[in-house]
Amino acid sequence: MTGQAEILSTHTPALFRAAVVRAADLLKSGELVALPTETVYGLAANALDPAAVAKIFAAKGRPAHNPLIVHVSSLAMARRCVREWSDTAGRLAAAFWPGPLTVVLPRSSEIPEVVTAGGPTVGVRWPGHPFIQEVIRACGFPLAAPSANASNEVSPTNAAHVDKSLGGKIRLIVDGGQSQVGIESTVVDLVASPPRVLRPGMIHEESLMAAIGKVEMRNAERGTQNEPMRSPGQLQKHYSPKAKLCVLNWKDDLDLRRQIGQLSSAIADVHILAHTNIPSGEGFGGVSVIPHDAEAFARAFYGELHRLDDLGAKAIIVESLPESAEWRGIADRLARAAAE
Ligand code: TXA
Ligand code: MG
Repeated sequence: MTGQAEILSTHTPALFRAAVVRAADLLKSGELVALPTETVYGLAANALDPAAVAKIFAAKGRPAHNPLIVHVSSLAMARRCVREWSDTAGRLAAAFWPGPLTVVLPRSSEIPEVVTAGGPTVGVRWPGHPFIQEVIRACGFPLAAPSANASNEVSPTNAAHVDKSLGGKIRLIVDGGQSQVGIESTVVDLVASPPRVLRPGMIHEESLMAAIGKVEMRNAERGTQNEPMRSPGQLQKHYSPKAKLCVLNWKDDLDLRRQIGQLSSAIADVHILAHTNIPSGEGFGGVSVIPHDAEAFARAFYGELHRLDDLGAKAIIVESLPESAEWRGIADRLARAAAE
């Protein structure tokens, strides 16, 4: 798939400006462009142009019932996307925007139905990455953008990941470096009372509560029996690497090797991602050490999954994560990557 999309660098002011112009031109003419954001790379289209947005669903193979997040570059633009801005939205925006937080509010008539999958609400985010901010300003319209990967694959955290997954299907990928956050934004439903976290992320519920008071966590993402699915993207099987992934907790090397013996994988096919009990590498396909620090772990995690997929790893064993709030978004992605 790689090799057909043009990839533009942005690491000098001149390159940055030229890439903004090129990306905005394509977006204004209804094309898709893959852009860096601080969470993961996004596959962007003019959110106000239904035909352009439809191309996102086609390129990703995304089910039509899964709504897209609309990206803005100002509060004024965010308010235009929604029917009614609320005090709670204002407090969240003041605390966390620009940044890795998406708020779900009733949609305005300006937002086409294809963006919201026909639903009455829209997810809005003001991303922190300077490149996408400049592109939105240059366009003058908001950008609908899901993660820039084929549906159900691991989200991209650099331009090469995008190229691997979608390079054959889009014209332009802008390389804005490594995504600083590394997992997708926290999605908070502000139509629910109290507000409800539909997708955990690096802005965790304790931070949200500090800004707005009571917040509910959503565990059963598929909705209860009496309730429709509130965030259809949150299907259990998602963000999956090609390798079989499982999460284990081990005391020491011997204990780890004993547990692997009970799995069906040959030890040479197993790659370990560890943060605390680092095993000796002997016999394993590989051992990666990710810092025992939630922010650093989130930044590195998808990149490791991509790298191990590229190596052709058959089995990935990840050391189980701490249970505290700052790890919850990562634990959610890990559980999905491990789902059969
Ligand atoms: O960090 C991010 O959010 C990245 C970057 C590119 O901004 N985008 C992203 O988009 O992760 P995507 O499409 O891969 O995931 C969007 C999630 C899905 O779980 C979707 O169901 C949910 O947000 N979502 C979007 N609009 C919604 C709405 N109106 N109501 C409930 N959930 C919504
Ligand atoms: Mg996605």
